[in-house]
Amino acid sequence: MSQSCAAPDPALLAGRFITIEGIDGAGKSTQVERVAARWRAAGLEVVRTREPGGTPLAESLRELVLHRTMDTLTETLLVFAARRDHLREVVEPALARGAVVLCDRFTDATFAYQGGGRGFDLAVLAQLEHWVQQGRQPDLTFWFDLAPEIAARRRAAARAPDRFESEDIAFFTAVRQGYALRFDATPQRVARIDAECTPEAVAAQIDAALEARGW
Ligand code: TYD
Repeated sequence: MSQSCAAPDPALLAGRFITIEGIDGAGKSTQVERVAARWRAAGLEVVRTREPGGTPLAESLRELVLHRTMDTLTETLLVFAARRDHLREVVEPALARGAVVLCDRFTDATFAYQGGGRGFDLAVLAQLEHWVQQGRQPDLTFWFDLAPEIAARRRAAARAPDRFESEDIAFFTAVRQGYALRFDATPQRVARIDAECTPEAVAAQIDAALEARGW
């Protein structure tokens, strides 16, 4: 685990774009903070950010997406508008100056939630992805995967749910399938983390995936 983990090589990590995905309740945040702290201790600039969000404009759009009623096309366009601003203002400049960007959710979430969960046309999502990202893709994605029933129990113990968190098991089953379908196409980019185990076992899986890349 963290103590036995080899020291990260800042030269290999600089300018890497790493995203964290999974259904709500998968327990991503603590784990990502642990990795960020280790890399900062090794002298790297680590930018922790999230989607939708990460800039003042994108955070305003996040508020709308999470709390206002709207149709799925509107929701999808707002998510991509937020992404565009976030990429231009935060992600691309950070990568260009050699920071590691650790981003909670990115376009895989759009394919999973709007595509899988809401049934939105995947071909249209691919077009929007192309326009908005201009080829930018994560170097590595951690997929925190767990059964929707377990995630629901974890969420029940947390704060008041937003529009997504209040969806039912069938929705999260479809979101999980959306992630699986999306990641089938790019297995080399994705590290699947079994998020049903203890926090220590989850940390060990993350460290193993990083060590496998020499990071
Ligand atoms: P989340 O990132 O889980 O934040 P928190 O843990 O603070 O609630 O919440 C963002 C929600 O937005 C999450 O339910 C997934 C959803 N979402 C989409 O539907 N599409 C997207 O493209 C993204 C990035 C997120």
